[in-house]
Amino acid sequence: MTQSAALASPALGGDEQIEIAAKAGLEELTTRLAQARGVEEILRVVRGGARRLVGADGISFVLREGDKCFYADEDAIGPLWKGQRFPLERCISGWAMLHGEAVVIEDVYADDRIPHAAYRATFVQSLVMVPVHADDPVAAIGAYWARPHRPSDQSVEMLKRIANSAAVAMTNVALFSSLHAAREEAVRAKDALILAMAALADTRDNETGDHIRRTQHYVRALAEAARGHGLYQPELNAELIELLYKSAPLHDIGKVGISDAILRKPGKLDAEEFAIMRTHARLGRDAIANAERYFGGTTGFLTIAKEMAYSHHERWDGQGYPEGLAGEAIPLCGRIMAIADVYDALVSDRVYKAAIPHAEAVTVIEAERGRHFDPALVDVFLEISPIFQEINSQFGSPA
Ligand SMILES: [Fe+2]
Ligand SMILES: [Fe+2]
Repeated sequence: MTQSAALASPALGGDEQIEIAAKAGLEELTTRLAQARGVEEILRVVRGGARRLVGADGISFVLREGDKCFYADEDAIGPLWKGQRFPLERCISGWAMLHGEAVVIEDVYADDRIPHAAYRATFVQSLVMVPVHADDPVAAIGAYWARPHRPSDQSVEMLKRIANSAAVAMTNVALFSSLHAAREEAVRAKDALILAMAALADTRDNETGDHIRRTQHYVRALAEAARGHGLYQPELNAELIELLYKSAPLHDIGKVGISDAILRKPGKLDAEEFAIMRTHARLGRDAIANAERYFGGTTGFLTIAKEMAYSHHERWDGQGYPEGLAGEAIPLCGRIMAIADVYDALVSDRVYKAAIPHAEAVTVIEAERGRHFDPALVDVFLEISPIFQEINSQFGSPA
């Protein structure tokens, strides 16, 4: 049945038809308000639908801003007060918000609560104003008519329902944005804690804490380039690269458990000392596994951090530690970190050796293709080694 046929239907009276249409319109508006993710969107939805539903000549949406009313939006036959601010005590929306009550005014010029001067430039002769969130009003919605009359009970009721839906929507928006802010803060705090912990481990055996920052960037550059060549798909995706970048600073966290006598020894370690030094991979993995226990589960981040700490000293030819894994049995994150870690050690001064220039470091890594390092990753490294040099100079290495 078409709309005009429905209107002409003798089965339904005119009032009933209007009521059905109003109910459907209100439902639609309520649904759209429930989905709103910001105050702007709430304003847009109310502006778009309220005037027709209430049967008014104008609608305004007023936000409470401290002791001011801000006429944020409107839809009317003539200009009202959009964009203007008034003291709460000097406008009727302020009265509705301060009292938490709806106001119905048949003739604005016969009511003392109305600032008549502000109304003279407008078409308004009668109005209804309802607070949004009557318990603690954060806004008000006004409906205006160009003739003095008593607005119908249905209009008042409809406006109240719209205000209730707007109140729920505004609460949702506030909750949503505070949740979002809390989540962002938690992520930032986690990143900062990781860097602080990793820097603690790092400053014990390096002149500066920059090693972790540099390896983090090398790892990402190498992983992105490898992905660009279609290597290790689908494992090496954007999500894994982000996890590699974030967990890289923890690769040597196990060094916290190694004594200064070994970490800072200005010369080669003897066999016994080297055996102790090698335990840092296991210590690191165990520390992160402990963090998982505190956390009561695992995350992609902790899994990668743990694997990387444990496997970054494995060698492609199986001669590394702690497991002596070979080839692709070594986790990808460990194979990537191995190149980043060795490159940075080569181009940096350490207590036991002087830095070598970038070009020499590249030659050393190339010579270890298929021995220490994953050959496919070495090929990518050779292609992008200028990026490694750039990162190295950017993060203050004495290369
Ligand atoms: Fe290490
Ligand atoms: Fe390292």
